[in-house]
Amino acid sequence: MTPAEQKKAAAAKAAEYVEDGMKLGIGTGSTSEEFVRVLAERVKGGLRVIGVPTSERTAKLCTELGVPLTNLDDTPHLDLTIDGADEFDPALRLIKGGGGALLREKIVAAASDRMIVITDATKKVAMLGAFPLPIEVIPFGSLATVRRVAEVAKAYGCEGKIARRADSYGEPFFTDSNNFIFDCSFGRIPDPDGLARELNLIPGVVETGLFIGIATLALVGTSSGVDIIEP
Ligand code: A5P
Repeated sequence: MTPAEQKKAAAAKAAEYVEDGMKLGIGTGSTSEEFVRVLAERVKGGLRVIGVPTSERTAKLCTELGVPLTNLDDTPHLDLTIDGADEFDPALRLIKGGGGALLREKIVAAASDRMIVITDATKKVAMLGAFPLPIEVIPFGSLATVRRVAEVAKAYGCEGKIARRADSYGEPFFTDSNNFIFDCSFGRIPDPDGLARELNLIPGVVETGLFIGIATLALVGTSSGVDIIEP
């Protein structure tokens, strides 16, 4: 199977974990979009679910395909979140935020009893960090914030280019919450738990793309099927 087919297979498998009446967190990215398509078919077939989307992009697709939506103010406790990832390690620690939705993704996952990650096989790594770590930062004083990020990262064995994300026109990319994303090309993150903890203490850092202790299961499309991985 190609990576695109692996994503589809993982998304189809994830739909098997959805039960009638569930309140769902719905992720962002190409794999999550495949999941929305499968979910929409099941909804057409009579499945009753309600979803909280993790981005405006996901909300639009759900609305177009007829998946009923709510929000965390009306539905603060969710049964299950299904979302993609940019990388995961054997302990199911994740890097997310390649699509810029990491803040809402983390809030929604944290509001859920369980989080299932759906990916293709290319996302599996022995150590996190090959994928640049996205960090969401308040625009005010962002360069001072990022200077502190670099200092903290260095203390955790992480060095490399830190670049503000741009949109396709070269203008600053703004998240759904009107913040900047800085992508940190560290190459390797030897201590993701420590790094995540310390980065979150820096004033101006809203969230990082490190998801630690959140995912409860990964469904990973491979060349021959779907692997089920638990931490
Ligand atoms: C969105 O912000 C990300 O966290 C995505 O979940 C991640 O980039 C995975 O995307 P794909 O499913 O497109 O690979």
